[in-house]
Amino acid sequence: MKAKLAAGNWKMNGLSGDLIEIETLIGGLSASECDVLICPPATLIHRMHDMAIGSDLLIGAQDCHPELKGAHTGDLSAAMLADAGATHVILGHSERRADHGETDAIVRAKAVTALERGLTAIVCVGETEAERDAGTTLAVIGTQLCDSLPGSSVAAHVVIAYEPVWAIGTGRTPTLEQIAEVHAFLREQLTDRFADEGNGMRLLYGGSVKPENAQAIFALANVDGALVGGASLKAADFARIVTALSDAK
Ligand code: PGA
Repeated sequence: MKAKLAAGNWKMNGLSGDLIEIETLIGGLSASECDVLICPPATLIHRMHDMAIGSDLLIGAQDCHPELKGAHTGDLSAAMLADAGATHVILGHSERRADHGETDAIVRAKAVTALERGLTAIVCVGETEAERDAGTTLAVIGTQLCDSLPGSSVAAHVVIAYEPVWAIGTGRTPTLEQIAEVHAFLREQLTDRFADEGNGMRLLYGGSVKPENAQAIFALANVDGALVGGASLKAADFARIVTALSDAK
């Protein structure tokens, strides 16, 4: 049975003083029955990794370069992130697609490199509000999924996060029916392409997940966890989401 995953995305938040949140989170983790991951800014990966030694907390990154080394000032390779202690990397988050013009082809190239270096890739897909209003949600997500995932994807090292762009950081979420519809579609696409491996890939929902709505979202079929932004910054909030996931189903 696949382990559920509660993943926190700190985005461009987090200074040394915020490491206290990680200490608190680790202190409360013992009873957790799901995988728990925090993806801090790269500057904190190594320190969080050291803090997490001996605990069940996993540490990940928020992006990597498609190449393993070379003349790319300011970028970080999958090998560097793994060397710093990351086991996972978020790829193709809508903020990177928007801020850095990341295409599906770029996301796929990054995923290939991440997998080669032993990192688990959390590949993000999601529609804009205009696309949802136009009724093209499934078409958009289907294309992103198909073109962002490498053929080498396996259940143990690829996670998909469905994150409607309009739900990120807004406090708005799709209805439970809308989340269930997209997750069922993703599962179908993955099993069509990867057979059993696709059936085993974890599907996370992301976009304004809070302690208050987590339980209802986690009760849905084909929801294997969450990618959490704002509510992962405070240990108390994230711990409640972890508990909701551990208790689900
Ligand atoms: P949010 O962000 O939980 O703050 O909406 C989610 C994400 O962007 O991964």
